[in-house]
Amino acid sequence: MIEFQNVSKTYPNGTHALYDVSLNIDKGEFVFIVGASGAGKSTFLKLIMHEETATSGEIIINGNKLSKLRRRDVPYLRRHMGIVFQDFRLIEKMTVFDNVAFAMRAVGENTATIKKRVPYVLDLVGLKDKMKNKPNELSGGEQQRVSLARALVNNPEIIIADEPTGNVDPELSHEIIELLNEINSMGTTVLVVTHEHELVREFNQRVVTIDHGKIIGDTKSGRFSAGVSDDYDDDDYTAGYNEYDDEDDFTDDEIIKSYSDLGYDDIDDDLGDSPQYPGNVVIVPDDDDRLD
Ligand SMILES: Nc1ncnc2c1ncn2[C@@H]1O[C@H](COP(=O)(O)OP(=O)(O)OP(=O)(O)O)[C@@H](O)[C@H]1O
Ligand SMILES: [Mg+2]
Repeated sequence: MIEFQNVSKTYPNGTHALYDVSLNIDKGEFVFIVGASGAGKSTFLKLIMHEETATSGEIIINGNKLSKLRRRDVPYLRRHMGIVFQDFRLIEKMTVFDNVAFAMRAVGENTATIKKRVPYVLDLVGLKDKMKNKPNELSGGEQQRVSLARALVNNPEIIIADEPTGNVDPELSHEIIELLNEINSMGTTVLVVTHEHELVREFNQRVVTIDHGKIIGDTKSGRFSAGVSDDYDDDDYTAGYNEYDDEDDFTDDEIIKSYSDLGYDDIDDDLGDSPQYPGNVVIVPDDDDRLD
Protein backbone atom coordinates (compact mmCIF):
# COMPACT_ATOMS: atom_id res chain seq x y z
CA MET A 1 0.00 0.00 0.00
CA ILE A 2 2.87 2.38 0.86
CA GLU A 3 6.25 1.76 -0.72
CA PHE A 4 9.43 3.83 -0.39
CA GLN A 5 12.18 3.04 -2.90
CA ASN A 6 15.52 4.66 -2.06
CA VAL A 7 13.89 7.89 -0.99
CA SER A 8 15.96 10.90 0.05
CA LYS A 9 14.73 14.32 1.05
CA THR A 10 16.84 17.45 1.21
CA TYR A 11 15.05 20.66 2.14
CA PRO A 12 15.75 23.79 0.09
CA ASN A 13 18.03 25.13 2.85
CA GLY A 14 20.28 22.10 2.40
CA THR A 15 19.11 20.08 5.41
CA HIS A 16 19.25 16.38 4.62
CA ALA A 17 16.17 15.05 6.38
CA LEU A 18 15.99 11.52 4.91
CA TYR A 19 18.61 9.36 3.18
CA ASP A 20 17.96 6.41 0.95
CA VAL A 21 14.89 5.16 2.77
CA SER A 22 13.28 1.98 1.47
CA LEU A 23 10.37 0.18 3.11
CA ASN A 24 6.94 -1.31 2.50
CA ILE A 25 3.84 -0.91 4.57
CA ASP A 26 0.99 -3.25 3.75
CA LYS A 27 -2.69 -2.51 3.91
CA GLY A 28 -4.00 -3.04 7.41
CA GLU A 29 -0.66 -2.71 9.18
CA PHE A 30 -0.12 -0.71 12.37
CA VAL A 31 3.31 0.91 12.43
CA PHE A 32 4.91 2.95 15.19
CA ILE A 33 7.57 5.37 13.99
CA VAL A 34 10.07 6.33 16.64
CA GLY A 35 13.28 8.32 16.80
CA ALA A 36 14.81 11.38 18.40
CA SER A 37 13.75 14.94 17.65
CA GLY A 38 14.94 15.99 14.20
CA ALA A 39 15.40 12.38 13.06
CA GLY A 40 13.08 12.78 10.07
CA LYS A 41 9.80 11.28 11.33
CA SER A 42 7.53 14.15 10.30
CA THR A 43 9.36 14.43 6.98
CA PHE A 44 8.63 10.76 6.37
CA LEU A 45 4.91 11.33 7.00
CA LYS A 46 4.86 14.55 4.96
CA LEU A 47 6.25 12.68 1.97
CA ILE A 48 3.45 10.11 2.25
CA MET A 49 0.77 12.78 2.34
CA HIS A 50 2.57 14.64 -0.46
CA GLU A 51 2.98 17.77 1.60
CA GLU A 52 6.68 17.53 0.72
CA THR A 53 8.14 15.84 -2.34
CA ALA A 54 11.12 13.47 -2.42
CA THR A 55 14.41 14.82 -3.76
CA SER A 56 15.22 11.39 -5.17
CA GLY A 57 13.76 7.90 -5.13
CA GLU A 58 10.13 6.91 -5.56
CA ILE A 59 7.12 6.68 -3.27
CA ILE A 60 4.25 4.50 -4.40
CA ILE A 61 0.88 4.69 -2.69
CA ASN A 62 -1.89 2.33 -3.73
CA GLY A 63 0.00 1.72 -6.95
CA ASN A 64 0.42 5.42 -7.76
CA LYS A 65 3.91 6.85 -8.14
CA LEU A 66 3.92 10.14 -6.29
CA SER A 67 6.59 11.55 -8.62
CA LYS A 68 4.03 11.26 -11.43
CA LEU A 69 1.13 12.67 -9.43
CA ARG A 70 -0.49 15.70 -11.00
CA ARG A 71 -1.37 18.61 -8.78
CA ARG A 72 -5.03 18.00 -9.30
CA ASP A 73 -4.70 14.40 -8.15
CA VAL A 74 -3.50 15.40 -4.69
CA PRO A 75 -7.02 15.84 -3.26
CA TYR A 76 -7.86 12.30 -4.32
CA LEU A 77 -4.72 10.96 -2.66
CA ARG A 78 -5.47 12.76 0.59
CA ARG A 79 -9.09 11.81 0.62
CA HIS A 80 -7.99 8.31 1.59
CA MET A 81 -5.94 9.64 4.47
CA GLY A 82 -6.88 10.90 7.90
CA ILE A 83 -4.07 13.09 9.13
CA VAL A 84 -3.27 14.16 12.69
CA PHE A 85 -0.77 17.00 12.32
CA GLN A 86 1.90 17.55 14.93
CA ASP A 87 0.80 21.18 15.14
CA PHE A 88 -2.96 20.32 15.06
CA ARG A 89 -3.89 22.86 12.32
CA LEU A 90 -7.32 23.60 13.72
CA ILE A 91 -9.31 26.57 12.49
CA GLU A 92 -9.40 29.02 15.37
CA LYS A 93 -12.59 30.72 14.36
CA MET A 94 -14.61 27.51 14.20
CA THR A 95 -16.03 25.51 17.08
CA VAL A 96 -14.80 22.02 17.83
CA PHE A 97 -17.91 20.67 16.12
CA ASP A 98 -17.26 22.71 12.99
CA ASN A 99 -13.58 21.83 12.87
CA VAL A 100 -14.54 18.18 12.62
CA ALA A 101 -17.65 18.74 10.50
CA PHE A 102 -15.49 20.69 8.08
CA ALA A 103 -13.69 17.53 6.97
CA MET A 104 -17.06 15.89 6.25
CA ARG A 105 -18.42 18.90 4.40
CA ALA A 106 -15.29 18.90 2.29
CA VAL A 107 -16.20 15.48 0.92
CA GLY A 108 -19.81 16.46 0.39
CA GLU A 109 -21.49 14.64 3.29
CA ASN A 110 -25.05 15.68 4.01
CA THR A 111 -26.10 17.64 7.07
CA ALA A 112 -28.01 14.79 8.70
CA THR A 113 -24.99 12.47 8.51
CA ILE A 114 -22.69 15.20 9.82
CA LYS A 115 -24.95 15.94 12.79
CA LYS A 116 -24.93 12.29 13.75
CA ARG A 117 -21.33 11.38 13.02
CA VAL A 118 -19.46 14.37 14.49
CA PRO A 119 -20.81 13.99 18.06
CA TYR A 120 -20.15 10.25 17.83
CA VAL A 121 -16.51 10.76 16.89
CA LEU A 122 -16.03 13.54 19.44
CA ASP A 123 -17.40 11.19 22.06
CA LEU A 124 -14.83 8.57 21.01
CA VAL A 125 -12.04 11.04 21.80
CA GLY A 126 -13.73 12.22 25.01
CA LEU A 127 -14.69 15.69 23.85
CA LYS A 128 -18.43 15.58 23.45
CA ASP A 129 -18.93 18.27 26.06
CA LYS A 130 -16.54 20.65 24.30
CA MET A 131 -18.33 20.66 20.95
CA LYS A 132 -19.27 24.31 21.13
CA ASN A 133 -15.87 25.54 22.31
CA LYS A 134 -13.31 27.19 20.09
CA PRO A 135 -9.79 25.74 19.92
CA ASN A 136 -8.32 28.58 22.00
CA GLU A 137 -10.61 27.54 24.86
CA LEU A 138 -9.08 24.05 24.94
CA SER A 139 -5.94 22.58 26.41
CA GLY A 140 -3.21 21.31 24.11
CA GLY A 141 -4.29 17.73 24.66
CA GLU A 142 -7.90 18.58 23.90
CA GLN A 143 -6.88 20.31 20.67
CA GLN A 144 -4.87 17.26 19.78
CA ARG A 145 -7.95 15.12 20.24
CA VAL A 146 -10.00 17.41 18.00
CA SER A 147 -7.34 16.90 15.38
CA LEU A 148 -7.63 13.14 15.92
CA ALA A 149 -11.44 13.28 15.63
CA ARG A 150 -11.11 15.18 12.36
CA ALA A 151 -8.75 12.51 11.04
CA LEU A 152 -11.14 9.69 11.96
CA VAL A 153 -14.41 11.20 10.91
CA ASN A 154 -14.40 10.16 7.24
CA ASN A 155 -13.32 6.56 7.91
CA PRO A 156 -10.09 6.89 5.94
CA GLU A 157 -8.10 3.94 4.59
CA ILE A 158 -4.91 5.24 6.19
CA ILE A 159 -4.48 7.19 9.40
CA ILE A 160 -1.26 9.15 9.70
CA ALA A 161 -0.77 10.54 13.18
CA ASP A 162 2.22 12.71 14.03
CA GLU A 163 2.63 12.49 17.80
CA PRO A 164 -1.05 12.19 18.72
CA THR A 165 0.12 11.54 22.28
CA GLY A 166 2.49 14.49 22.46
CA ASN A 167 0.37 16.76 24.62
CA VAL A 168 -1.68 14.43 26.76
CA ASP A 169 -1.19 12.64 30.06
CA PRO A 170 -0.16 8.98 30.16
CA GLU A 171 -3.68 7.66 30.69
CA LEU A 172 -5.03 9.58 27.73
CA SER A 173 -2.04 8.59 25.60
CA HIS A 174 -2.96 5.02 26.32
CA GLU A 175 -6.56 5.62 25.31
CA ILE A 176 -5.53 7.32 22.08
CA ILE A 177 -3.30 4.42 21.03
CA GLU A 178 -6.02 2.00 22.12
CA LEU A 179 -8.49 3.81 19.89
CA LEU A 180 -6.10 3.76 16.93
CA ASN A 181 -5.50 0.09 17.60
CA GLU A 182 -9.22 -0.64 17.50
CA ILE A 183 -9.60 1.29 14.28
CA ASN A 184 -6.68 -0.67 12.86
CA SER A 185 -8.29 -3.96 13.83
CA MET A 186 -11.20 -3.04 11.57
CA GLY A 187 -8.80 -2.83 8.63
CA THR A 188 -7.47 0.74 8.59
CA THR A 189 -3.74 1.15 8.06
CA VAL A 190 -2.28 3.24 10.90
CA LEU A 191 1.07 5.04 11.08
CA VAL A 192 1.84 6.70 14.40
CA VAL A 193 4.83 8.75 15.43
CA THR A 194 5.27 8.61 19.17
CA HIS A 195 7.91 8.98 21.83
CA GLU A 196 5.93 6.89 24.31
CA HIS A 197 8.13 3.84 24.35
CA GLU A 198 6.10 2.13 27.07
CA LEU A 199 3.07 2.19 24.79
CA VAL A 200 5.10 0.98 21.84
CA ARG A 201 6.15 -2.05 23.86
CA GLU A 202 2.70 -2.67 25.22
CA PHE A 203 0.86 -2.61 21.90
CA ASN A 204 3.17 -5.12 20.26
CA GLN A 205 3.13 -3.72 16.74
CA ARG A 206 5.73 -3.06 14.07
CA VAL A 207 8.30 -0.42 15.09
CA VAL A 208 10.27 1.57 12.53
CA THR A 209 13.12 3.55 14.06
CA ILE A 210 14.50 6.57 12.22
CA ASP A 211 17.82 8.11 13.20
CA HIS A 212 19.49 11.00 11.42
CA GLY A 213 17.35 10.43 8.33
CA LYS A 214 17.92 6.71 8.06
CA ILE A 215 15.86 3.71 9.05
CA ILE A 216 18.02 2.00 11.62
CA GLY A 217 15.46 -0.47 12.87
CA ASP A 218 12.32 -2.18 11.61
CA THR A 219 11.07 -4.82 14.00
CA LYS A 220 7.86 -6.64 14.73
CA SER A 221 5.94 -6.93 17.97
CA GLY A 222 6.81 -3.82 19.89
CA ARG A 223 10.52 -4.52 20.06
CA PHE A 224 13.07 -1.79 19.59
CA SER A 225 16.20 -2.41 17.62
CA ALA A 226 19.45 -2.75 19.51
CA GLY A 227 21.08 0.54 20.31
CA VAL A 228 17.91 2.64 20.19
CA SER A 229 17.86 4.94 23.15
CA ASP A 230 14.77 5.63 25.22
CA ASP A 231 16.45 8.70 26.47
CA TYR A 232 14.52 11.55 24.99
CA ASP A 233 14.43 15.04 26.28
CA ASP A 234 10.82 15.78 27.14
CA ASP A 235 11.27 19.39 26.07
CA ASP A 236 11.38 18.15 22.52
CA TYR A 237 7.83 16.96 22.76
CA THR A 238 5.99 19.78 24.35
CA ALA A 239 5.99 21.93 21.24
CA GLY A 240 2.93 21.97 19.10
CA TYR A 241 0.59 24.43 20.73
CA ASN A 242 -0.93 26.67 18.15
CA GLU A 243 -0.35 30.34 18.20
CA TYR A 244 -3.74 31.90 18.28
CA ASP A 245 -4.81 34.43 15.78
CA ASP A 246 -7.00 37.20 16.89
CA GLU A 247 -10.41 36.48 15.43
CA ASP A 248 -10.45 39.85 13.72
CA ASP A 249 -7.28 38.95 11.90
CA PHE A 250 -8.77 35.75 10.64
CA THR A 251 -8.76 35.52 6.88
CA ASP A 252 -10.27 33.23 4.33
CA ASP A 253 -6.72 32.30 3.45
CA GLU A 254 -6.45 30.45 6.74
CA ILE A 255 -9.55 28.44 6.00
CA ILE A 256 -8.27 27.72 2.53
CA LYS A 257 -4.94 26.67 4.04
CA SER A 258 -6.73 24.23 6.35
CA TYR A 259 -8.78 23.11 3.46
CA SER A 260 -5.65 22.41 1.52
CA ASP A 261 -4.08 20.56 4.46
CA LEU A 262 -7.03 18.22 4.29
CA GLY A 263 -6.34 17.71 0.62
CA TYR A 264 -8.83 19.87 -1.15
CA ASP A 265 -6.54 22.61 -2.38
CA ASP A 266 -7.26 22.42 -6.06
CA ILE A 267 -11.00 22.31 -5.86
CA ASP A 268 -11.45 25.86 -7.05
CA ASP A 269 -9.13 25.92 -9.99
CA ASP A 270 -9.19 22.33 -11.12
CA LEU A 271 -12.12 20.39 -9.75
CA GLY A 272 -14.86 22.92 -9.25
CA ASP A 273 -16.94 21.71 -12.14
CA SER A 274 -15.75 18.17 -12.16
CA PRO A 275 -18.60 15.68 -12.18
CA GLN A 276 -16.33 13.26 -10.28
CA TYR A 277 -16.30 15.52 -7.28
CA PRO A 278 -18.93 14.36 -4.81
CA GLY A 279 -21.24 17.12 -3.74
CA ASN A 280 -20.76 20.77 -3.20
CA VAL A 281 -17.69 22.05 -1.53
CA VAL A 282 -18.50 24.46 1.24
CA ILE A 283 -15.45 26.20 2.55
CA VAL A 284 -17.20 28.28 5.20
CA PRO A 285 -19.85 26.23 7.00
CA ASP A 286 -23.50 26.94 6.42
CA ASP A 287 -25.35 28.23 9.44
CA ASP A 288 -28.01 25.59 9.06
CA ASP A 289 -25.75 22.71 9.91
CA ARG A 290 -24.00 24.22 12.86
CA LEU A 291 -25.03 23.01 16.28
CA ASP A 292 -27.05 25.57 18.19
N1 LIG B 1 10.71 22.87 6.08
C1 LIG B 1 11.95 22.56 6.47
N2 LIG B 1 13.01 23.21 5.95
C2 LIG B 1 14.26 22.88 6.32
N3 LIG B 1 14.57 21.90 7.19
C3 LIG B 1 13.56 21.22 7.73
C4 LIG B 1 12.20 21.52 7.41
N4 LIG B 1 11.41 20.68 8.10
C5 LIG B 1 12.23 19.90 8.83
N5 LIG B 1 13.53 20.23 8.61
C6 LIG B 1 14.72 19.58 9.19
O1 LIG B 1 14.73 18.23 8.76
C7 LIG B 1 15.14 17.38 9.81
C8 LIG B 1 14.04 16.38 10.10
O2 LIG B 1 12.91 17.08 10.61
P1 LIG B 1 11.55 16.38 11.01
O3 LIG B 1 10.56 17.45 11.25
O4 LIG B 1 11.24 15.36 10.00
O5 LIG B 1 11.99 15.68 12.36
P2 LIG B 1 11.13 14.86 13.44
O6 LIG B 1 11.77 13.51 13.56
O7 LIG B 1 9.71 14.90 13.08
O8 LIG B 1 11.41 15.66 14.77
P3 LIG B 1 10.42 15.99 16.03
O9 LIG B 1 10.41 14.73 16.87
O10 LIG B 1 11.10 17.11 16.72
O11 LIG B 1 9.07 16.37 15.49
C9 LIG B 1 15.50 18.28 10.98
O12 LIG B 1 16.87 18.54 10.92
C10 LIG B 1 14.71 19.54 10.69
O13 LIG B 1 15.37 20.67 11.23
MG1 LIG C 1 8.04 15.79 13.93
